[in-house]
Amino acid sequence: MIDPFKLTRRGLFLFDPETAHGLSIAALKSGVLPACRVPADPKLRQTVAGLDFANPLGLAAGYDKNAEVPDAMLKLGFGFTEIGTVTPKPQAGNAKPRIFRLEQDEAVINRLGFNNDGHDAAFARLSARSGAGIVGVNIGANKDSEDRVADYVAGIRRFYSVAKYFTANISSPNTPGLRDLQARDSLTALLSAVLAARNDEAQKSGKRLPVFLKIAPDLTREGMDDIAAVALEQDLDGLIVSNTTLSRDGLTDQRQAGEAGGMSGKPLFAKSTAVVAAMRRRLGPAMPIIGVGGVSSAQTALDKIRAGADLVQLYSCMVYEGPGLPAKILRELSLLVAREGVASIRELRDTRLDHWPEV
Ligand SMILES: Cc1cc2nc3c(=O)[nH]c(=O)nc-3n(C[C@H](O)[C@H](O)[C@H](O)COP(=O)(O)O)c2cc1C
Repeated sequence: MIDPFKLTRRGLFLFDPETAHGLSIAALKSGVLPACRVPADPKLRQTVAGLDFANPLGLAAGYDKNAEVPDAMLKLGFGFTEIGTVTPKPQAGNAKPRIFRLEQDEAVINRLGFNNDGHDAAFARLSARSGAGIVGVNIGANKDSEDRVADYVAGIRRFYSVAKYFTANISSPNTPGLRDLQARDSLTALLSAVLAARNDEAQKSGKRLPVFLKIAPDLTREGMDDIAAVALEQDLDGLIVSNTTLSRDGLTDQRQAGEAGGMSGKPLFAKSTAVVAAMRRRLGPAMPIIGVGGVSSAQTALDKIRAGADLVQLYSCMVYEGPGLPAKILRELSLLVAREGVASIRELRDTRLDHWPEV
């Protein structure tokens, strides 16, 4: 059968990637795309960080930066979706062009720089929702902020009533100096302030929302040791592994490989999955990990879970495969899990941890 997206894609790819992204958001908003019916599979169901996920596949941050289409994304079959990164004040981001498709490699390079409408606009949109479904809020700092930690704390406070979880994103390569927050002392200062704000809001509202930390795939072993130590000390709820990479390994399309920014999509899969395993080895079995980077199929989603992830997210491969991708992955994931003869996908976590060498 001809996949209708393959035809649409040819037209969509005539536009530059940022215009195509805007058109896809407009299409989702208008409701022209049919919902994808994915039969609920009890074997894919899991409770992670206190939240009940109908399936382990989520939409990664950066597609729906301004919370325009969270419900439309959930209707595509995703078990959860993450809006943002949002910063307190709106900001324009870097000069265009700033997103590049590397079609041959099914990769993307972006240097957007946290372009977003700011907290107030995203909050207004999330407040207007019915509230069903798991929608996480990914928070960041403004480029010109004089107190980055305060920007993250403001995110927790502003979105506490409308989020199901938070992600503190300290790993975008496109905001100068942001990744320095991953260093041990800065991370301790950031997480203690963020988790103190969460604890305070939890006490006021009577509900404790999980806070995840999103890290880069380009860390040294010492860097990973430090993050694991701080995460365990600070009682973080989980890690999201990983953001885009500065590496250009695995690209065959050299034409655009020289563009500055973070690379994502298929060539990120091996690197980001090795970091999932490396962090699982450091963290032990209890702390949740969400694996992101190059998920393109049920097999790659399962590979992340076998490497130590509880849940997975994707973004870039949907650019190439279209909005039917989550439903396709979920249908095939059900078959793969049934074939393994386990009662729950949870039993497959960590089963190939040793396959991934130390990075
Ligand atoms: C165009 C684009 C914009 C992104 N923006 C964000 C962002 O605002 N915040 C964030 O945490 N990650 C952002 N990401 C990173 C993704 O969430 C994800 O971590 C990364 O792309 C790896 O997953 P993938 O290979 O499935 O795309 C962005 C990725 C892309 C391609």
